[in-house]
Amino acid sequence: MAWRVLLAVASGAYADLALERELRRLPLAPQDRGLATELAYGAIRQRRLLDAWLDLLGKVPAAQQPPPLRWLLHLGLYQLLFFQRVPASAAVSTAVELAKRDGLARLAPVVNGLLRAFLRRTAPLPLPADPAAAFALRHSLPDWLAADLLAWLPLEQADAFGQAANQAPPLDLRVNVLRSSREAVLAAFTAAGVPAEPLVDLPAGLTLTARSSDLRALPGYSEGHWCVQDRAAQTIAPLLDAQPGERILDACAAPGGKSTHIAELIGDVGTVVAVDRSSGRLQRVRDNAERLGLHTIKPLQGDAAALGVAQAADLEAALGANLAAAPFDRVLLDAPCSGLGTLARHADARWRLTPAAIDTLVELQQSLLAGVAPLLRPGGRLVYATCTVHPRENQQQIAAFLAAHPGWQLHLEQQLWPQPQGGDGFYAAVLQAP
Ligand SMILES: C[S@@+](CC[C@H](N)C(=O)[O-])C[C@H]1O[C@@H](n2cnc3c(N)ncnc32)[C@H](O)[C@@H]1O
Repeated sequence: MAWRVLLAVASGAYADLALERELRRLPLAPQDRGLATELAYGAIRQRRLLDAWLDLLGKVPAAQQPPPLRWLLHLGLYQLLFFQRVPASAAVSTAVELAKRDGLARLAPVVNGLLRAFLRRTAPLPLPADPAAAFALRHSLPDWLAADLLAWLPLEQADAFGQAANQAPPLDLRVNVLRSSREAVLAAFTAAGVPAEPLVDLPAGLTLTARSSDLRALPGYSEGHWCVQDRAAQTIAPLLDAQPGERILDACAAPGGKSTHIAELIGDVGTVVAVDRSSGRLQRVRDNAERLGLHTIKPLQGDAAALGVAQAADLEAALGANLAAAPFDRVLLDAPCSGLGTLARHADARWRLTPAAIDTLVELQQSLLAGVAPLLRPGGRLVYATCTVHPRENQQQIAAFLAAHPGWQLHLEQQLWPQPQGGDGFYAAVLQAP
C-alpha cells in the first residue's frame, strides 16, 4: 500500500489523498494502518536522503531508475534506516517479494543486492563539503529551503527545524469546554485505555501519547467533546480576545479549526461568519460546527479579498446586520500560505513548493489583508496568522500592510517554530484598526 502511495505521489497526487484512497480500497487493522501511514509518509519526507543512498550504492542513479523500482527501494531503505521494530531481514525479503509479485521480477536481484549492500556498509553517508548542501541532505530538504533556513537561523535552530520536519507529528486535541472539560475527556480516555496528557499552557489542549488511527472511535468524538487541533494552532484564536456577543469574521475558515475555537471562547454567544472560497471545504466547517454543537458559526462561501465589495449583501445576511452600521469587532485572517511550519504533517509539501509559488502566495495574502481590513469597526482587532515561517509571508507582509495603512497599530507579533518534540510552526500578528 505504501508503495502505491509513493508511486501516486511521484505522479502528482497529494500524499494524504493518495493514502486515503488506498485505505478505502483495502481497509486495514489499526496497527497496519498506522504502519502503512508511517512508511509512506516517512519515505516521502526522506526522498532526498534515500535517493542519495541509492546513488551511492546502485549502478544506476536514483533519478534514472524505473520509478516502481526507485520507490520500492526507498521503502526498503527507509525501514532499514529508520525503523527499529521491523527486523532488517523482514524489510529486505518483503521488498524482494513485492518486486517478484508486482511486475519487477527481473529486478528482484537488484532490490536484494542493493538493500544487502546497505546492510553490509558500516560507514555513514558521505556529505557534500558545502555546508548548505550537507544540511539539505541531512534533513532531506530542497536546496532553496535549506539555503533560506540557514540564512534565517543559527545552525542549531535550523537543525531543530529539520528534525521537526521529519517526524510523525503528535496528535493534539482541543476540548470543547462548552460540552465537556479536559479532566472529563482525560478520564474517559483513561477508562478506554487511550493514553493522553494535558498540554502545558493550553487550557483546553491535550495530546495522545500513543498512536491512534481511528479517531472517530475515541470516547466523546460523536458527542462533540473535542476536536483535533495542533498545539500551536490552539494559540491563534485566543489572540482575537473575542467577547460574548461580538461579531467576528473568520475570513479563511475551512475546515473550521479556528472558527469553532472562537465560538467556544465566546461561549457560543455572538456571530462568527466563517468564509471560505472552497464550497467543499466549507462543508467541513458546517459538519464540525454541528458535531461540536456550535450555533454562532455562519458559513459563507466567497472570496475574502473582495467580500465587502462583491458580496456585501451575503455578508450582511450572514451577519444579520447592516455592515455600515455594525461592522465586525474582530477579524481573523488565517491566510493560505506555504505551510513551511507543517512540513511533518504534509509529507510531500517540500517537494511541491517552489520560490515562485511563495511569490504568488505573498500577493494573495496581501490582497486578502487589504480586502478584510475595511470590514473591521474603528479600533477593532485583526489577527493575521499563517502556518509558515517564511518572513515574506509573515513579518514582511505585515510591515508592508502597516506601511500602506496609516493609523493601524501592531500590538503583538509571534513566530512559533516547528518543534522536534511536537507543535507546528505558526506566525501571528495582532493589529488594531484606527
Ligand atoms: C490555512 S487554511 C485555513 C484553516 C482554518 N482557519 C482552520 O483553522 O481550520 C486557508 C483557507 O483559505 C481558503 N482560501 C484561499 N483563498 C481564499 C480566498 N481568496 N477567500 C477565502 N478563502 C480562501 C482555503 O480554501 C483554505 O481553506
